[in-house]
Amino acid sequence: MPDIQPHLFVIFGATGDLTKRKLIPALYHLMQDEDVAQHCYVLGTARSNWSDERFREAARDALREKGHSEEAVSEWCARNLFYQCLGAEGDDYGGLRDRIEQLERHLDLPGNRAFYLSLPPRIYGPAIEGLGNAGLNTSPGWTRIVVEKPFGDDLDSAQALNEQVHTHFDEDQVYRIDHYLGKETVQNLMAFRFGNALFESLWNREHIDRVEITVSESLGVGGRGGYYDQSGHVRDMVQNHLTQLLTLVAMEPPASMDADAIRDEKVKVLRATRQPDPETDVVLGQYEAGTVNGEPVPGYRGEPDVPEDSGTETFAALRLDVANWRWQGVPFFLRAGKRLPRKLTQIAVRFQSAPVSLFQADGAPCVPQTANCEAPPNELLITLQPDEGFDLRFEVKAPGSSENGTMTLETQHLSFSYEDAFGPVPDAYETLLRDIIVGDPTLFVRGDEVEASWQLYAPILEADAPAHAYEAGTWGPDAVDRLLPSWSSTGRVRPARASAGADMQ
Ligand code: BG6
Repeated sequence: MPDIQPHLFVIFGATGDLTKRKLIPALYHLMQDEDVAQHCYVLGTARSNWSDERFREAARDALREKGHSEEAVSEWCARNLFYQCLGAEGDDYGGLRDRIEQLERHLDLPGNRAFYLSLPPRIYGPAIEGLGNAGLNTSPGWTRIVVEKPFGDDLDSAQALNEQVHTHFDEDQVYRIDHYLGKETVQNLMAFRFGNALFESLWNREHIDRVEITVSESLGVGGRGGYYDQSGHVRDMVQNHLTQLLTLVAMEPPASMDADAIRDEKVKVLRATRQPDPETDVVLGQYEAGTVNGEPVPGYRGEPDVPEDSGTETFAALRLDVANWRWQGVPFFLRAGKRLPRKLTQIAVRFQSAPVSLFQADGAPCVPQTANCEAPPNELLITLQPDEGFDLRFEVKAPGSSENGTMTLETQHLSFSYEDAFGPVPDAYETLLRDIIVGDPTLFVRGDEVEASWQLYAPILEADAPAHAYEAGTWGPDAVDRLLPSWSSTGRVRPARASAGADMQ
């Protein structure tokens, strides 16, 4: 990996869960190349008074849990990991700067630094100030700052945080994380759209009837009730992950694959999208006790750290309209929720039905001029996780003929499975950390983009509408059918993995 330059990767919040689950494993993978491992180092920092050894031990545990061999892991941890306590108040930036400079001298590093803020959002501001005031916003090499989501919790707070960041860092030093953008299949959306003239020529209001984006999770809020209850699903999932998917589906072809060319097009989509009306375009929900994957699970209000009378939504479904030449009149339906029947991230693009159909689904003859015949529409399913891949649904003639001698149609699919073709899908964090280190901001959210996205949802956040109850293990509250008939009872399975010949339901 020649483009990975020698650097120091500094993790704020190094004793936390994200460091253990995602950052350390991703950095370890990136440093499997011996050349890289000899010139790239990680400095963890947090308030806990840990030693280098204590940090290495935690990293070893994390990597062992992921199935890595003790020997290889121990060597890497001993050589590449260091720890610096940020002081009991978390404000000893002078001490941090001294340690960074000392390590760089000792390890013969050129001063390239990445600062990854894996912190509770309320301390992003103090950390940015601390770095800036200690002069850690510049260095003899490159300096980059990485901010985890959520970036703000509404438009005002996102603007304030942007101002704070820009007081000390230039925009091209800032990497705002949305881990969905690191998912291989999300990036594949662009390849699929702009690498295939076939689909791009149909990708507009003339041919597309509607777009449905589903991000469902079978898990509940787990141990994150404290954070989640302050946030809710619109802030936690819709404003960022689902909105990123929407922009990638709806954007115009960029002038080039340059980061700003792509992000310019995404921002244009957000600016062209009408703010949803909280009364008519949005349905919120909160899960009650139920059964998921055959196991009984408690309701949201029974989760740890969630108030018994919480009104926070764990589900959101909404309709968005992108008012531009390509999409005017094509609704985008978004839905996301916790404790739904299964994990599924999927985009369903439904094409318009044939203008005149010669067939009826039951095989009865159809006279277009007189009967109301409608062929099932073609549909493209883009499944982002699990079972990553594409399915195109189309109609064929079923073998033989029906009783009255006419043709009967049956739905079939053309399918592509990412894993069958390429093997296991890489972890999003590995992709993103690599891009930070090589300085490619394409998969990160730009300052104006994050503000445009918060602005879009301002009416929902201000309205604070009540959440309808839904039973855990269902597809959300019945009220969702108001947006899209029968949506509350459907989630599609990939036909290639479902029982042969079964229709998607
Ligand atoms: C996070 C949310 O950003 O994304 C979580 O805070 C959610 O609530 C998670 O569970 C889902 O990510 P993934 O990659 O499992 O779909």
